[in-house]
Amino acid sequence: MSSNNTTALITGASAGIGACFARFLAAQGHDLLLVARREQRLQELATELRAQYGIRCEILAADLTDRQAPKAIMDYATEQGLEIDVLINNAGLSGKTAFSETPWDILDAELQLMVTAVTELAHRVLPGMRARGFGRIINLSSIAALSPPGGSLLYSGIKSYVFLMSQSLDMELKPYGIHVTALCPGFTHSEFHDVMGTRDAANHLPGILWQEPEAVVKEGWHAVNKGQPVCVPGTVNKLLAASMRPIPTRIQYFLGKTFNPFKES
Ligand SMILES: NC(=O)c1ccc[n+]([C@@H]2O[C@H](COP(=O)([O-])OP(=O)(O)OC[C@H]3O[C@@H](n4cnc5c(N)ncnc54)[C@H](OP(=O)(O)O)[C@@H]3O)[C@@H](O)[C@H]2O)c1
Repeated sequence: MSSNNTTALITGASAGIGACFARFLAAQGHDLLLVARREQRLQELATELRAQYGIRCEILAADLTDRQAPKAIMDYATEQGLEIDVLINNAGLSGKTAFSETPWDILDAELQLMVTAVTELAHRVLPGMRARGFGRIINLSSIAALSPPGGSLLYSGIKSYVFLMSQSLDMELKPYGIHVTALCPGFTHSEFHDVMGTRDAANHLPGILWQEPEAVVKEGWHAVNKGQPVCVPGTVNKLLAASMRPIPTRIQYFLGKTFNPFKES
């Protein structure tokens, strides 16, 4: 099987990086199963991609904070006769309010969306990938996993988990023809900061820190096909990530505490 004749499941395909992955993979001839909560957005994107590229594009409106969602998505794929060869575990967001002031059900939903659903979807696509001897999984981590601890609720911890588990999965699965990559973008133009409520602060960050989602997607796809377990897209992000690694933990803590652009003043 080649990496451009496959079916890809993309979560969070209604906006930002996920929608960009859908356009990118459709342009290469992949069939798609697109998942997010906003069905109308998914429908419009699917109509566009079917017309433009002649691919098969199915959609499923699902809320990944629902514990039943990963199984329901895979059941739907089976009903539709879709074998998932590529998984883009992308859906995500960041809370902004302080941990101690946030109700547990909101924190629980973040963990379900970006830890449990990510892990469960990976687990559920693996039997098919192993049977076919081919698979590509991209898990959206973040440069936050490589940076000083931040004030964005659980975000740094969640993305650190995704960063490490992706590498462990890659080690386990490479012998079966399955590559796993933790894709670690920095600031990327999308709806992320609108959802987080930090658009004004984000707009004040220097332009050099920002990437377009197209560049992130292209580099991430190249990395997973080359078998690279970690991809930090863009030169500026690579330099930032490399410069953070040798810094002692206590200094990382100080930097995180002092330079959080999204901290309430
Ligand atoms: N943008 C950045 O600067 C940046 C940097 C590093 C990492 N990332 C990561 O990249 C990924 C994509 O973010 P983005 O920047 O593209 O943000 P975005 O434009 O806000 O898109 C987020 C996507 O996730 C979906 N989503 C959110 N909650 C969901 C839920 N409960 N169930 C199903 N789908 C859900 C949204 O769809 P619906 O609202 O329709 O459900 C949307 O399609 C995230 O994991 C994020 O942490 C982003």
